[in-house]
Amino acid sequence: MKVGIIGTGYVGLVAGVCFADKGNHVICVDNVQEKIESLRNAKVPFYEPGVNELLSKNIERGTLEFSMDIKYAVQNSDVIFIAVGTPSREDGSPELKYVLAVANQIGESLNGYKIIINKSTAPVGTLDKIRATIKEKTTHNFDVASNPEWLEEGRALDTFIYSSRVVIGTDNQEVAETLSKLYEPFVDDQRPIIVMSIRSAEMTKYVANTFLAVKLSFINEMANLSELLGANIDSVRKGIGFDPRIGNLYLAPGIGYGGSCLPKDVKGIIHTAQMKGYNLELTNAVHQVNELQKLMLFKKIHEYYSGDLRDKKIAVWGLSFKPETDDMREAPSIAYINEFLNYDVEIKAYDPEAAENAKQIFGDSIEYFPDKYQAVQDADVLVISTEWKEFKEADLDKVKQMMKKPLIFDGRNLFAPQKMRDMGFEYFCIGYRENG
Ligand SMILES: NC(=O)c1ccc[n+]([C@@H]2O[C@H](COP(=O)([O-])OP(=O)(O)OC[C@H]3O[C@@H](n4cnc5c(N)ncnc54)[C@H](O)[C@@H]3O)[C@@H](O)[C@H]2O)c1
Repeated sequence: MKVGIIGTGYVGLVAGVCFADKGNHVICVDNVQEKIESLRNAKVPFYEPGVNELLSKNIERGTLEFSMDIKYAVQNSDVIFIAVGTPSREDGSPELKYVLAVANQIGESLNGYKIIINKSTAPVGTLDKIRATIKEKTTHNFDVASNPEWLEEGRALDTFIYSSRVVIGTDNQEVAETLSKLYEPFVDDQRPIIVMSIRSAEMTKYVANTFLAVKLSFINEMANLSELLGANIDSVRKGIGFDPRIGNLYLAPGIGYGGSCLPKDVKGIIHTAQMKGYNLELTNAVHQVNELQKLMLFKKIHEYYSGDLRDKKIAVWGLSFKPETDDMREAPSIAYINEFLNYDVEIKAYDPEAAENAKQIFGDSIEYFPDKYQAVQDADVLVISTEWKEFKEADLDKVKQMMKKPLIFDGRNLFAPQKMRDMGFEYFCIGYRENG
């Protein structure tokens, strides 16, 4: 099949390399010249394990090309995906101007029947707007479909290739058949294609992400209470997770969810509901709990020093919102580091991949180190913010020797508290004090 993908970020590029790898001819478009040049040279402009290999392979095979020209992609494709960003606006609603600008350009470029599929996460009703925008610009026939994306940054290839399901929203049986053919190599009996109405598909994406956010805010709230009561949340979650009605995924306590999806989509659905005059009580609480959780480590350290943070040097391990990605969008580290900066604390940060993106946010208000040990040199406190594997495997004796004081606040529960105390650390984590 000839596939055009407009927007070559995490979603567009991963979909592009995966479709190309199954023998389709794919043209990926972006309006940022640097990205397109980098991709033409087989270099992924962000960190995502494994994508570079598939990129090089498919450029060489001639199944994948890159362009800045939407018209070229549209006119040489049968199906065209929209995969541009839908960031939150000030009021929480998703910004649709990028999606609609692309729809406009697609409309201007149509040279015959095509299927236009929206992969960007956008509120229920957006596909109607996309359809109307295209229709205004063309006399050619076309169909539209919604195809929400489930990939997870850091494991994007696996979660695309072995997606738990493929949702196709369409009002046209032939469109469903065409898209089912495209997705055939990625599904099986256990991971099916689910065809539904367009509005249901759009809603499915928001409901899925809101439910994941519910689980995370729930476990974080229970973690905070467990700590106050002398229980251990990691034991508790094992105790509940074996119940198949509950399950054990997405129940790790931490310092709040971040990234480009969960916070944005939770705010997005709250806004959508408000527009209908309906207040999402639970979802609002989920968002509020998350905002508080992002400041949990700051709160604990502030308490530890009885509010006197003057002249403190705080080492931070991990800046990205989760491991195996350089994505800093809505990372909890932004919230609590900014709080520390209000107290003139010195922040000495290390992240294996996200430092460049972090510089766009913090500038030179924090110090960046190329190595985790250099960051802890003379630090009063070490804060662990992201569960990169290299932190779990760190030489803690070395860390202890290099710090001014062996004091760790761990936002990801990487170590057993008793073991840390035996090593001579003062160690605080999320949801318990003792091993329990
Ligand atoms: N990142 C994820 O994990 C993920 C998962 C599922 C769904 N989504 C959704 O998918 C969408 C894309 O997310 P992303 O993380 O890939 O975003 P991204 O910001 O990484 O990529 C979007 C790309 O679109 C390009 N773009 C913007 N306007 C354009 C235009 N007019 N023409 C051509 N290119 C244009 C940008 O330059 C950028 O490269 C969002 O709606 C997001 O919510 C993201």
